[in-house]
Order: sequence, then structure tokens, then C-alpha cells
Amino acid sequence: MSLIPIGELARRTGLSVSAIRFYEARGLVEPIRTAGNQRRYLRSDIRRLSFAMIAQQLGLSLSEITAELATLPQGRAPTQADWEAISTHIRSRLDARIRMLENTRDLLDGCIGCGCLSLDRCKLYNPEDRANQAGPGPRFLLGNRASDFG
Ligand code: FES
Repeated sequence: MSLIPIGELARRTGLSVSAIRFYEARGLVEPIRTAGNQRRYLRSDIRRLSFAMIAQQLGLSLSEITAELATLPQGRAPTQADWEAISTHIRSRLDARIRMLENTRDLLDGCIGCGCLSLDRCKLYNPEDRANQAGPGPRFLLGNRASDFG
């Protein structure tokens, strides 16, 4: 098993040591303790952290990234099949997000010129009348936006 110190992990990923500790605290990487109680990381953690940085660029939240990485084996290098399973899962999420963004973009054209933000008419502000499905009352004034209902 090939282990590396945090400095090398930082150098290989471009992350600061504090950023690596941040990811470690959230369970994205799990160092192994040496007999002298020093942290050592699997060489494959370079890929885990690189994946986390790329996934953040793609718009995944830290909790989504953590959940994806939790599907990988701990204590050994993930196989190509392990990474492909994550890739397939993320692709479907990204496809759904792209469809949502395209729909929002198409609705936005009409709404920029309108600006009414009507709960009755505006599909951008209240798509599929989700405010009504959430129940009566001033849902938006209570801090719940239409995006919170779906
Ligand atoms: S802002 Fe008027 S329809 Fe969306």
C-alpha cells in the first residue's frame, strides 16, 4: 500500500493543507495513522480530492460529493469500475440539472420583460403552481421559496 504525507497530497492536488484537512473533516479522505501518530494518505486520495474539486466545479454540493465518495471503498484504491459507477450516477444528475437550467433559461426570456412574479401566471416564480401544493397562506413571506417545495 502506497502512503503519502499531507504535504505531498497538497502538492499533487494543488490544495492547501488546510483545505485537505477541511475535506478530511467531512470524510472525503480518511488518513491512516502511523506508529508515530502521523497522518498518511493513500496515493489514491489524490484522485478522490481531484474528483471533489471537479465535482464542485460542476455544481455538486459538498454533501452530494461526500455521498458519491462514500460509495467508494475505503482503505484501497478504487477500481476503474468503482469510478465508472460514480460517473454514471453524476451524469444522470447533471443531465437533470441541465434540463432544469434550460427550462429556466427559456422561461427567463419572457419574465425579464415582464417582472410581475405573479403566483398565478409566472412559471418561473411558481412553476407548476407548487406554492399552492404546499398549502395555503403566505408561503413566500414565511421564507419558503417555490424551489423549496419541489
Ligand atoms: S415575471 Fe411575469 S410571467 Fe414571470
